[in-house]
Amino acid sequence: MQDGKHIVVAIDGPAASGKSSVARELARRLGFVYVNSGAIYRAVAWNILQNEIDPRDQGAIERHVSGLQIRCDVRDHESLTLIGGVDPSDHLRDDAVNKNVSIISSLSRVREILVEKMRGYARDYDLVMEGRDIGSVVFPETRFKFYIEASPEIRSRRRAAEGQSDEIAIRDRADSSRSTSPLVIVEDAEVIDTSNLTIVQVVDEIVRRLKAKGLQIGSRP
Ligand code: CDP
Ligand code: CDP
Repeated sequence: MQDGKHIVVAIDGPAASGKSSVARELARRLGFVYVNSGAIYRAVAWNILQNEIDPRDQGAIERHVSGLQIRCDVRDHESLTLIGGVDPSDHLRDDAVNKNVSIISSLSRVREILVEKMRGYARDYDLVMEGRDIGSVVFPETRFKFYIEASPEIRSRRRAAEGQSDEIAIRDRADSSRSTSPLVIVEDAEVIDTSNLTIVQVVDEIVRRLKAKGLQIGSRP
């Protein structure tokens, strides 16, 4: 907490740039809560597919999401989303979710509802939050913005090494070209290319830059 406000470190970037791994470790070092905003979009996408709603039917999705009970919680210092009381964690990386999450998250009504939930976290906790629009839209006022990237070849290799079928080039194109909250590098973001860095090296670099910006670093017991 600084000046009575909770601190937000925003990390944005394309698929498999290392956001989740880096944000989780950074949050542990800082003693902050780690929020994976992509998991929230994935949880909603999974619920829509479970309910057999056509992912291209904008009206049906908007009606469904407006009435959906979405609870954004914290467990073990990390975000956890419950949809209608159900924990969808085991399904967030399903092929069908990978394929449909970008089209569903391009809808402005979906984003409006979920961004409000994300901002809610900062009312209670200091955060490291990662996603696509955290520095540009969700917390544009934070001084601590990072954009992490890696070459498309390395990112595809990283996903394949995880044994996942995930067409990240297609998702990247959709996420960067949509009209609502596209993935962009904001002017005040610190850009780090992680292609040739380990997760620990990326975290060390972010910690160094945060200190240079005057953030006092504690750690979680
Ligand atoms: O882990 P990966 O980078 O592959 O994806 P993710 O962070 O789990 O996000 C899944 C999808 O959710 C992205 O491809 C975006 O379509 C969407 N997303 C978004 O629109 N805005 C965010 N802040 C986070 C994710
Ligand atoms: O969240 P995002 O999709 O951006 O990436 P991630 O899920 O954190 O990382 C994707 C994969 O790349 C994981 O298996 C990480 O262990 C690996 N990775 C890596 O090898 N080197 C890095 N500097 C960052 C991530």
